[in-house]
Amino acid sequence: MALREIVTVGDEVLRKKAREVNRFDDKLCILLDDMAETMKYEGRGIGLAAPQVGILRRVFVVDVGDEHGLIEFINPEILSVEGEVLSEEGCLSVPGRSGCVKRPERLKVRALNRKGETFELEAEGILAVCVCHENDHLDGVLFIDKVVEQEEKD
Ligand code: NI
Repeated sequence: MALREIVTVGDEVLRKKAREVNRFDDKLCILLDDMAETMKYEGRGIGLAAPQVGILRRVFVVDVGDEHGLIEFINPEILSVEGEVLSEEGCLSVPGRSGCVKRPERLKVRALNRKGETFELEAEGILAVCVCHENDHLDGVLFIDKVVEQEEKD
């Protein structure tokens, strides 16, 4: 495993739409392992999307410290959302900034794992927020585009 460099706001790769994964090979496994390591190394990270390491593929990893542990999402699709919460967010690609964003309270997501097998997950709270935030990265959307109230990070 290796740490990957995190791309920050201003780099156009963060604004592009990522492409679907169609090969479930060693290269994908290496990317997923590197992303998990990079996210954990960065400490504050609870999610990381492939465009944030310069790879325009529909892949993200999350670990919000709950019973699910690390979850890998490939070609994710949010199937349904419910409710609304205001969540305070930051992003490893937007250092030094945080802000409040409206997110669904609960959602259902379908994705593939690293073997190419489909799974579905019902998420709520911080996990739901994190899935939405990371999924936005795959479409070139950053939390700063959706902020309703902005603060300086301490
Ligand atoms: Ni982010």
